[in-house]
Amino acid sequence: MTTDRSCLCVVLAAGEGTRMRSALPKVLHPIGGLPMVGHVIRAAKEVGAEIVAVTGSGGDEVDAAIERLAPQTEYFRQQDRLGTGHAVLTARAAIERGYDDILVVFGDAPLVDPSVLRSARGGLAAGADVVVVGFRTAEPTGYGRLIEADGRLAAIREERDCSDEEKLITYCNGGLIAFSGKHALELLDRIGNDNAKHEYYLTDIVEIANEDGLVVVAVEAPFESVLGINNKAELAAAENIWQQRRRRAAMLSGVTLLAPETVFFSHDTEIGADTLVEPNVVFGPNVRIAGGATIRAFSHIAGATIAEGAEVGPFARLRPGAKLGEASKVGNFCEVKNADVASGAKINHLTYVGDAVVGARANLGAGTITCNYDGFSKHLTQIGAGAFIGSNSSLVAPVKIGANAYVASGSVITSSVPDDALAIGRSRQENKEGRAEMLRRRLAAHKSGNK
Ligand code: UD1
Ligand code: CA
Repeated sequence: MTTDRSCLCVVLAAGEGTRMRSALPKVLHPIGGLPMVGHVIRAAKEVGAEIVAVTGSGGDEVDAAIERLAPQTEYFRQQDRLGTGHAVLTARAAIERGYDDILVVFGDAPLVDPSVLRSARGGLAAGADVVVVGFRTAEPTGYGRLIEADGRLAAIREERDCSDEEKLITYCNGGLIAFSGKHALELLDRIGNDNAKHEYYLTDIVEIANEDGLVVVAVEAPFESVLGINNKAELAAAENIWQQRRRRAAMLSGVTLLAPETVFFSHDTEIGADTLVEPNVVFGPNVRIAGGATIRAFSHIAGATIAEGAEVGPFARLRPGAKLGEASKVGNFCEVKNADVASGAKINHLTYVGDAVVGARANLGAGTITCNYDGFSKHLTQIGAGAFIGSNSSLVAPVKIGANAYVASGSVITSSVPDDALAIGRSRQENKEGRAEMLRRRLAAHKSGNK
């Protein structure tokens, strides 16, 4: 067991990420809506590690983002980027506090799985002093190679320092390294920069530990879990892998996805069992759906809470603050924002409901619009339980429609309607007998006169 061992996780996030060609620091680019470094921190927390971050370029922005994701994280600023070994030593003050295990992870490898961190820590618990996470690939170019001898890990050789023979090795360093806190500083302090890049390579601790007769091993992980992101193409590839994992997790937890590859989750999407999600649905941040709901095709949902048995879509848009009660319905081409829709209420066609409270079982006809914004402020529309809003009505907020009230179709409602009242807010219709024929004749004469 590793749980009773203390662990410090050093997250390296000082890279410049120039290949992203972006104003946003590399580790803040999102996967499933969460910054990459957030995924790494999440995995580290899951294995019970205390977290410190080493930041550099774009440091303030990165620190602030990490602070939001993991309050009270300690930061170390790496002023000159002199290599991964140097970066880890920037966190010397934290390492000096003394931990059983030290984990080093990269902030730009967001798919790291907690199980990989656990297996690295497991190696330490089983008596190793240094554990390197390796992966096998047919295209090892660019990675450090794992040089093994007698079942032990003898060294990690960076690509540029490899002999032609070593370059043929396909077992590579994933970047994630765990070592015993007891030996950490004595190993790290001996790392030099006598190599092709004149950098302080963290990977050199393998050879140094071997010189001291310590136990050094490699554990193998799937390539995905150590995948590093350097450009937007790799970012998209990682997003794709992450979405696949998330869809699978949703299905295994009882969510029905008809076409999983067309459904996109956010890192914090919560969906209860027996909810059906049809094809082409996008979940933005902060969505909670209870069990037994139905999300029909082509819906876009963010910041919404959806209760049991509710139905959304097809082609619905739920924006932040939308709360749908049990068995309520928001149908085709409807948009709901910051609105509490009580149980059994129906908003079925071509409707905008913003800044509103809709009572239980109320029925909003096609084309109902809450006119919530006057160009300066947002105002509230309250619709009572059991109210009926006729099609193509505008409810000019602030306004209140009473319980069981009835609004005639085509109304523009500017003042509140009492409970049980009928409101008609439109000009009265006039029928002029026989006038259609007269009108036609006049129009025809006018047209031929113009020729
Ligand atoms: C590193 C490994 C290599 C491994 C590969 C896996 C070393 C020396 N090499 O190479 O064996 O196969 O990862 O992807 O460790 N960083 C800092 N400060 C620095 C330098 C780097 O914070 O001074 C951070 C970067 O932001 C990045 C990580 O460390 O998150 C790795 O650095 P990078 O330069 O990408 O190392 P690689 O050359 O890819
Ligand atoms: Ca890299």
